[in-house]
Amino acid sequence: MTVTTRPLAAPSMLGGSIELPAHPCEHDPARRVAPWTGQPGTAGTVAVVGAGKMGLPLCAQFAGHGWRVVAVDVQPAVVDAINAGVSHVDGEPGLAEAVARAHADGSLSATLDAAAAAREADVVVLIVPVMLDDEQQPDYRYMDAAVASVAPGLHAGSTVIFETTLPVGDTRHRFAPRLEHATGLASERDLFVAFSPERLYSGHALANLAQYPKLVGGLGEESRRLAAAFYASVLDAPVVAMSNAEAAEFSKLADTTYRDVNIALANEFARYADRVGVDIQEVIAAANSQPYSHIHQPGIGVGGHCIPVYPHFLLSRAPEMELVSLSRRVNDGQIGVAIKALQKELGSLEGVEVLVLGLTYRDGVKELAYSRALPLIERLAFHGAIVSAYDPLLTPDEIARCGARPWAWGEESPARAVLTQTADPAFAGLDWAWFPDLHVLYDGRNSLRDARMPAGVAYHGVGVPAGLRASGR
Ligand SMILES: NC(=O)c1ccc[n+]([C@@H]2O[C@H](COP(=O)([O-])OP(=O)(O)OC[C@H]3O[C@@H](n4cnc5c(N)ncnc54)[C@H](O)[C@@H]3O)[C@@H](O)[C@H]2O)c1
Repeated sequence: MTVTTRPLAAPSMLGGSIELPAHPCEHDPARRVAPWTGQPGTAGTVAVVGAGKMGLPLCAQFAGHGWRVVAVDVQPAVVDAINAGVSHVDGEPGLAEAVARAHADGSLSATLDAAAAAREADVVVLIVPVMLDDEQQPDYRYMDAAVASVAPGLHAGSTVIFETTLPVGDTRHRFAPRLEHATGLASERDLFVAFSPERLYSGHALANLAQYPKLVGGLGEESRRLAAAFYASVLDAPVVAMSNAEAAEFSKLADTTYRDVNIALANEFARYADRVGVDIQEVIAAANSQPYSHIHQPGIGVGGHCIPVYPHFLLSRAPEMELVSLSRRVNDGQIGVAIKALQKELGSLEGVEVLVLGLTYRDGVKELAYSRALPLIERLAFHGAIVSAYDPLLTPDEIARCGARPWAWGEESPARAVLTQTADPAFAGLDWAWFPDLHVLYDGRNSLRDARMPAGVAYHGVGVPAGLRASGR
């Protein structure tokens, strides 16, 4: 596959969505070599450290292109599953089959021993989480541990690639010095260090690997060459060799922060649309009907461990970015907007039964990380509401751990308010007869805007005033 220094400019000039085609594989079978030195048509051994939701699809992809893959994880259950040829990650089309195939042909194995894996590997890819601590600063505990654990196995010629999203400068200033110090190797002479952001969307990982250009930046020219050659050999999408690691780090933060700021703008528009009695979805669809406008959808908040997190990575180094911090506050403030709307319909929430539908950060992904459902439940309870909840992806115990009473689908509920926090398609099957006391539906994702509500039940979408919601999207 091609290695370029810039993504194709033409589609990126447009503000609208870009439909990226899947790139067919044009690789001839790779020749396995040891050591691997980046020659086209050759494959070596790669250690993937962190075999989670993103790491495991990477393992499958790399193994499918002739590389020997050693998955490294700290969880014995993950290692055991991979060594049995079983994917422990659900909801990724094609992944279970690809893992089984790679295990059967001997190209994929797993271990708890990171140093041993690094010793055998030509390339080490790190994809363990970096999250936020309570002060909204990067929490490096998993990555620091992963870096320390691979270091004893690194050797002259090792290429280490960070795929986990990092603040700008971390590859060069935080991690490369640790690797050099622990190994005695020198960057760009016998140790090659690069950053390449993981940009996959949960549930579409393997498809996205064939679609999205792979961005790569090295500490220096040789790191960049080796990292780009690695991805050119394992991916079918184009590889973009950027100027340096910092440009590649920043690109991921720019992409995710752009989405957060865009959603914040949509949320402000939605608040105004509410005030003037206009349907924001109609407005957005109209505005986006030329290629320079790409307004996202408003909602009850932004969850998951990407979009609400990475603006803080930027802010941790660039606190002067006012728009970025304001957008975070606007998006987090959407819970307050929802609660105010309920109070407007119901008065005080003291003792009021409220049912929250959808607790994961988005529908279809069993992940509670940074889900806005958790502060939502907390705030409702703070206002005195009696909160029950349902999520098709969670067990009653998991729901109870989120601080709400589990509601069973189809059970009669005393709820006076129902509030959707995800757009799970299952919610279209709600029968309003289950809620004889219902006064208001707050539709936090505007996904039930076409629902027929019983007489006397108010519908409230985010920027979709009652009475206007049928007027067109
Ligand atoms: N999940 C997403 O949607 C997504 C999308 C794009 C990018 N990313 C990036 O991928 C990173 C990882 O996300 P994920 O969803 O795969 O996380 P995950 O929690 O599903 O998986 C992380 C894995 O790393 C393992 N791990 C933790 N510490 C380790 C260590 N010291 N050594 C070896 N293994 C260790 C864990 O046991 C787990 O299996 C994120 O931090 C983010 O930068 C995630």
